[in-house]
Amino acid sequence: MKAKKLSVIAHGGAGSSNEHSDGTKKAIQACYAASQNNAGLLHSVAQAVVILEDDGRYNAGKGSHARENGKVEHDAAIMDSDGRFGAVAAMEGFKNPIQAAKAVSETKYQILAGEGAAKFAGDQDLEPTQLQTVPGGGKDFSTSPSTDTVGCVAFDGTTFVAALSTGGMVGAHYGRVGDVPIIGSGLYVGSNGGVAVTGDGEAIMMKITAYRAYELIQKGDSPQAIVDEVINWFPLTDAFGIILVTRKGSAGGSNRSMAWSSQEYD
Ligand code: GLY
Repeated sequence: MKAKKLSVIAHGGAGSSNEHSDGTKKAIQACYAASQNNAGLLHSVAQAVVILEDDGRYNAGKGSHARENGKVEHDAAIMDSDGRFGAVAAMEGFKNPIQAAKAVSETKYQILAGEGAAKFAGDQDLEPTQLQTVPGGGKDFSTSPSTDTVGCVAFDGTTFVAALSTGGMVGAHYGRVGDVPIIGSGLYVGSNGGVAVTGDGEAIMMKITAYRAYELIQKGDSPQAIVDEVINWFPLTDAFGIILVTRKGSAGGSNRSMAWSSQEYD
């Protein structure tokens, strides 16, 4: 049977080490493998994010930063060009928050938060986890405190999908929610492309970053020109990175180090 085409790009977060791009490569390979199994692109992109959440070197899933009270809360979101969007915010206790976000996208809701999100994830039989943390934001994992959100964007010739997952900012107030579950801030997908960003969530949401990057896609700018322009919206003091896929191709970049990988499978 002929292989199905796929354009896919994944990142390990603004501030993640370039040396950790073996993990983002593994993520895009997982996305491709799932897409070849007729999994559906939403599922395939979620599989890529599961790999990044399980890696432990990125600020998502197992590697998530702790809040000021030592606990770990996750934000995650997924969106496709067929009009699906699902997100969880400030959710504790589950190994793969992206799977909870994907499950929300299949309900009549768009975002579930806090204890309600955790109850929902439990009802979906998602795998629980207890991350070992210590008060003050420290914890037993090796994620750099300056590392941010992971993400993946893909296009199979018909549908675009983007997904994000994060433990948020290290030492932030518990209950703090960043850009990830806010549509048009951390991610946006339309019929001409998908955008996923990473970095300082407060700065990202105040600029409605992903939606405005998508407007540049609509205007017909090239992927690399959009990446260069959007990075320039952020001063160097605000960590920022972006990946995107359009009908013209894909591009990614950051104003600091960032592990990322992309592949066009024909
Ligand atoms: N960009 C992720 C966050 O600020 O929570």
